[in-house]
Amino acid sequence: MDLLLTCKPNYEPLLARELLLHDCLLKTHGSCWILGRLNLKSKRTQQIPQLCFAQTILINPIKINAYSVNKLTGKLTELFLASMKGKYIKHPLPALFLHADVQSLSHRVKSVESNWHNKISKIMSRLEKLLINSVPLSLEPVEGFFVYFSDFNQVFVAYSAIIGSCQRMHMDKNAPSRSYLKVEEAYNFLNCQPQANEQVVDLGAAPGGWTYSALKRKAKVIAVDNARLDKTIATHPNVTQLKQDALKFNPEKKLNVDWLFCDITEKPEIILPVIRRWLKHGWCRKFIVNLKIGRCDPLEIIRKINDPDTGLIGYCSLLKVRQLYHDRQEITLVGKHLW
Ligand SMILES: C[S@@+](CC[C@H](N)C(=O)[O-])C[C@H]1O[C@@H](n2cnc3c(N)ncnc32)[C@H](O)[C@@H]1O
Repeated sequence: MDLLLTCKPNYEPLLARELLLHDCLLKTHGSCWILGRLNLKSKRTQQIPQLCFAQTILINPIKINAYSVNKLTGKLTELFLASMKGKYIKHPLPALFLHADVQSLSHRVKSVESNWHNKISKIMSRLEKLLINSVPLSLEPVEGFFVYFSDFNQVFVAYSAIIGSCQRMHMDKNAPSRSYLKVEEAYNFLNCQPQANEQVVDLGAAPGGWTYSALKRKAKVIAVDNARLDKTIATHPNVTQLKQDALKFNPEKKLNVDWLFCDITEKPEIILPVIRRWLKHGWCRKFIVNLKIGRCDPLEIIRKINDPDTGLIGYCSLLKVRQLYHDRQEITLVGKHLW
């Protein structure tokens, strides 16, 4: 099975290393993408693996080259019509035009996309009305028409894709920090978010973006940080601030913690034992952790997380790690406790 995998700029080498761990043969690559071949008969890989650094995965992509908007549009129309032959589409069908993070490519993509819709509308207007430019976030492949511009004149097309986890969130002008966006995106990745009256413990909470996000959902928050919380957050009736070392914080026995948030500026080697301690004692039901990967080998961190004896996986009914849209030199770890 051939796969076209996209990633953030400069993360191609890490994605390549991740793919090699899953017996994936690397065929070619460019800025923000890798084309690989997955050996599904390999003992280690029987399905498309969960990859931390892959954003979108196009399954069995077809490569096309053309040197003008009209020619690209024509080729894409041919491919789309061929794929629709003999099918009767009743439900909305994703038609996504994506592109590498290369300057000036977006204009090209918009022109081709709009020309393509016009052409399809003239030939099959009922079907064109069913085309949507979004897909539900899923770790499973979805069917549709997926177009990825790797370059001005080079495009990959697929009829099935995994439109990963990355999703740009909207900033809330009242949120005290941009970190707010990271936790909002993480809820989607986990497919779950705090509910009214749930108890959150926010380690490394200041100035309060993550706490604010939980408060918006009417949760109660214990915010642990030596630094100052934003004033409106600190005085909110649902917030208790503890000015202490979050790495050493243990919740009281009677405290029923639904959510552990952790966004501490420390190396993952220091954060992971803290999360493991929380999980080992069953102190929280769900967790969202942001890990700073600037000064470590992230693949080694992922290996540690997934180690059945010394990692976190043994305590979790669900555990996912991914570089999300709002992560910079960071990755996000989300999960649910076994109990
Ligand atoms: C990236 S900021 C957190 C941003 C926060 N999540 C938000 O949404 O506004 C990291 C925080 O970790 C805190 N921190 C670092 N080491 C800590 C420790 N050992 N104990 C408590 N807080 C710590 C820093 O004071 C800083 O406020």
